[in-house]
Amino acid sequence: SAKKPLRGRKMLVTAGPTHEPIDPVRYIANRSSGKQGYAIAAALADLGAEVTLVSGPTRLDTPRGVTRKSIESAKDMLAACEAALPVEAAIFAAAVADWRVEAESDQKIKKREGQLPSLSLAENPDILATVSARKSDRPSLVIGFAAETETIIENGKAKLAKKGCDWILANDVGTGTGTFGGDDNQVFLLTRDSVEDWPKQSKEAVARTLADRIAKYFQEVDAC
Ligand code: PMT
Repeated sequence: SAKKPLRGRKMLVTAGPTHEPIDPVRYIANRSSGKQGYAIAAALADLGAEVTLVSGPTRLDTPRGVTRKSIESAKDMLAACEAALPVEAAIFAAAVADWRVEAESDQKIKKREGQLPSLSLAENPDILATVSARKSDRPSLVIGFAAETETIIENGKAKLAKKGCDWILANDVGTGTGTFGGDDNQVFLLTRDSVEDWPKQSKEAVARTLADRIAKYFQEVDAC
């Protein structure tokens, strides 16, 4: 119907930070609040999509009509995303930690006189790139974000190519922008052959605009 153009379509959204454990009480994290990803999940559900939201730790309520899977680490986020497939579209708004602590300690690391602990890091799986490269069950529309602090469009285009997704929303996350944690966002929508400069607006408005574009994409696919 006109008001629920995504009715019956399954979609996956990731949101929030990941927490990478150091020991039972400590972790590595980042400043993502989850607001942008939750707003996208809500906007897609409003258009009738059946949304699975794979979320790192946040303080947010699950949007109405959305199924939430809560995880902590990047590895668990990848497993939850794979379990949610097949979907028709996947939107990766989470701020996934690029690195985890190589050997998580199962006891609390003790403070010792004159000795500093050192942490070795290991690379986390890239969830967006992994899903984009799937031979089976690749969503027909894979959308990533690019969190950049300089040359936003160039870096975003490079990420689009490197990760093999279909669209990228590139945003400036430099100090003072408030993109991480704030209520507003200014994004560029990058596709293989176009760049759109969206105005600075609330994360809800970014999400509604994106959801409308996703609905238009499927309308055009269906028309072919
Ligand atoms: O949560 P908020 O406070 O509302 O803030 C929103 C946001 C700034 C977190 C969001 O708009 C955003 O930019 N999300 C992506 C953050 C990020 O980590 O970007 P990146 O450029 O490092 O990663 C590029 C893409 O690859 C992203 O789609 C990311 O989800 C994905 N990725 C990255 C690393 C990894 N190991 N796995 C991934 O899937």
